[in-house]
This record gives sequence, structure tokens and C-alpha cells, in this order.
Amino acid sequence: MAEYDDHPAYPVGLRLNGRRVVVVGGGQVAQRRLPALIAAGADITLVSPSATASVEAMADTGEIRWERRRYQDGDLTDTWYALVASSDAAANDAASAEAERTRTWCVRSDDAEAATAWTPATGRSEGITVAVLTTTSQGRDPRHSAAVRDAIVEGLRDGTLAAPHHRTHAPGVALVGGGPGDPDLITVRGRRLLAEADVVIADRLGPRDLLDELPPHVEVIDAAKIPYGRYMAQEAINQALIDHAKAGRSVVRLKGGDPFVFGRGMEEAQALAAEGIACTIVPGISSSISVPGAAGIPVTHRGVAHEFTVVSGHVAPDDPRSLVDWKALAQLRGTLVLLMAVDKIGAISQALIAHGKSPDTPVALVQEGTTAAQRRVDATLADVGERVVAEEVRPPAVIVIGDVVAVGPEPAGPLEG
Ligand SMILES: C[S@@+](CC[C@H](N)C(=O)[O-])C[C@H]1O[C@@H](n2cnc3c(N)ncnc32)[C@H](O)[C@@H]1O
Repeated sequence: MAEYDDHPAYPVGLRLNGRRVVVVGGGQVAQRRLPALIAAGADITLVSPSATASVEAMADTGEIRWERRRYQDGDLTDTWYALVASSDAAANDAASAEAERTRTWCVRSDDAEAATAWTPATGRSEGITVAVLTTTSQGRDPRHSAAVRDAIVEGLRDGTLAAPHHRTHAPGVALVGGGPGDPDLITVRGRRLLAEADVVIADRLGPRDLLDELPPHVEVIDAAKIPYGRYMAQEAINQALIDHAKAGRSVVRLKGGDPFVFGRGMEEAQALAAEGIACTIVPGISSSISVPGAAGIPVTHRGVAHEFTVVSGHVAPDDPRSLVDWKALAQLRGTLVLLMAVDKIGAISQALIAHGKSPDTPVALVQEGTTAAQRRVDATLADVGERVVAEEVRPPAVIVIGDVVAVGPEPAGPLEG
């Protein structure tokens, strides 16, 4: 054991591409460290009589070379960096001694004080590598390093840790799917872009709570309130996106769910493309899957439903504008998920029954899913029209039709009483 050294470690980024790295021991430590060494392009030799299944798989795919034996003197010849992490204390000591002799930087999992290098807690976000080493008067504190790393990476990802880029501010538009409503259900990327925006044009649906967190200089525009005069409302929104982007601002168009599921996302992307404006698409968690899930309904279930179909119910089945083949849908065995269908569910259920779907088919309506106001009302295809009125179900709601409605634990909703 080396003498205790209270000097701080000197941080450095090793460029290992094509350079020989030797790992002694094929257990859990190697399993955790190898992916980063592989990602760095290192020429890795593992010396170990055994290995975990994951490490073995890395050898099978040729990402590492595996010498199936104990460490022996000379293994570190021409090596730039060594990771000593076997369960064989004598082998660890011998490898570490060779590393010292050959001036090879050496990490040891069993004896940090005997090591000549320490592995920092690392994390990555958008091309930035965060590496944290904490040293205290008592020695290293890897748990604290990991906690600091997590806090930094999380802050960078969600934008709460401001790290302005020294690049010119990128104007353009991001079409961001905000998820179904719970502010935690936006993607990490969406949240970061929101934090970097100058202007946010938001729909009524989606994570509106996130707008409260934005700094005061961010202009938040309610898409429903954009005056449209002689234009259609959507054209006015497109124009607002174009105008703000052309004024050099970084614009987020925040949409409920996913931008491309009944979200008119592509109309906006096309309008921006026509003006030569850069547009980033950030997918979101669609209410069509997540809202049933939040109410305990899986849209598929083994042995019950092998397909689910997401349908807009904003026009009635007999409406000439309808593009939906309700007859074909009535023949499907799987799950039907209806969006924007609260007003027309009576006519829709009748059409499905008329085309042969069983009146007993279970139905669930999930209103304001994933928010504090979420409620679920259960029905059958025969009575859903009446239940919607009697229970005063209001949009936004997702309607699920099919046997999956009944597979979860019993809902606490009114039907079961
Ligand atoms: C114009 S569509 C937009 C869908 C959205 N792009 C998505 O992927 O979830 C609006 C419909 O989505 C459904 N919806 C969206 N958020 C919801 C929520 N939190 N709870 C229930 N239904 C929701 C309702 O059917 C609503 O009428």
C-alpha cells in the first residue's frame, strides 16, 4: 500500500484512440469501464481467466481482445493505460508494480491509494463530457463525485444549469412535443430547448406548467390567441413562427403530445422550409399511448391485443369530410384509441356496432390524463354515448375501445362500484 498522498489529482483527458490499454480482470468493474474505453477507440486487451457475460460479448464482437488467463509479467509492455480490477489480489499487486516500473498510468479498483490514476465520475450532455473527482482530507469520495456529476449533467440537460454557448445565438424554430401534460413527461431535449428559447408559442394542451419556469425575458405566446384576421388560425401561427425566426430569435413551438400525431407539426415544418428557416423536430410522448397508460390501460397486451389503431374522432362517421373507414375498424380485433372524439363518441360507437363490433366491448374515457385532474370513466360500446353525457366527460380525453381496458387492476372509477 502506497503512502497516503493528500495532493489533489491532476485532471486530464486521455486520447486513447488506437493506443494499447490493458484491463486485468473481467468482472463488474471491467464491465462498467469497458464501454467508455471502447468508445474512446482504445486498442484493448483484457487479461482474465473469466469474464461476465457482457464482457464476453464485447470480446465476441471484436471490441476487445481477450486473453483467457491470469496476468503475467510483461502484459503491460507498450501499454499507455492500465485498469487493474481482478479478484486476484496477488495479480493486482503484480500488475500494479509492473505499471509503476514501466511508467504506465494505472487505475486500481481494489486500492485507490496504490493507483497512479483515478477514474472520475463522468457524464455526457450534448457533446460536453463532465468529469468529477472529489478529494477530501480523508481521501477520495466516489459517491460524492457521482452525485455532483449527476447534478451537473441533469442541470445541463434540462437547462436549469445555464451554460451559454460561445456561439452566435442560433435563430430558428424547434417543434417540440411537450408530452401529455405532466411537466415531467417532456423529453430532456425539449426541456433544454425551452430553457434556451427567446420566444415560446404554446398550445393549450401540453405541459403548461413548464412555461411558469421560463425566465422573464422569454416571450410566451398562446397559439390560440394569435389574431388571424383574414388568415386561417394555422396560417397565422405559421406566420408568427416565420416572423420571430426571421427576427433572429430562437423559437420553440411547444405542442401537446407528439408534434406529428394530429398536431399539424408537418404543416408548420413545411411552412418554415418554404421560407428557408431551420427547423428542429423534437418528438414527444403522445397522449394516445401515455394517457391510457397513466390510467392503467396498456394499448397492447399479450394474448389480448396485437395491434392498436389511433384514430381521430373529430368528425362524425357520416360526415363527408371523414377519412376514416369505420367499417374496417369495426373488424379489427385490437385496440382502438380515439382522440378528439368526446363530442362524436355516440355516433362513432353506433357506427362500430352497426359494422359488427360487439356492443359489450369495454370502453374507457380518460380525461386530462397525467395531470392532477385526471379521471377515468368506464363504459361499454353500447352505453358510452350516454355515459359521456351522464358523467360530463369533457375534452381533452382519450377514448380506448377494446379488451385491453379490462386487463389492468380494477380501476377505482365509478363503473366498478
Ligand atoms: C389535437 S390532438 C393532439 C394530440 C397530440 N399531438 C398527442 O400526440 O397527444 C388533441 C387530443 O389529444 C388528446 N389529448 C391530449 N392530451 C391529453 C390529455 N392530457 N388527456 C387526455 N387526452 C389528451 C385528446 O383526445 C385531445 O382532444
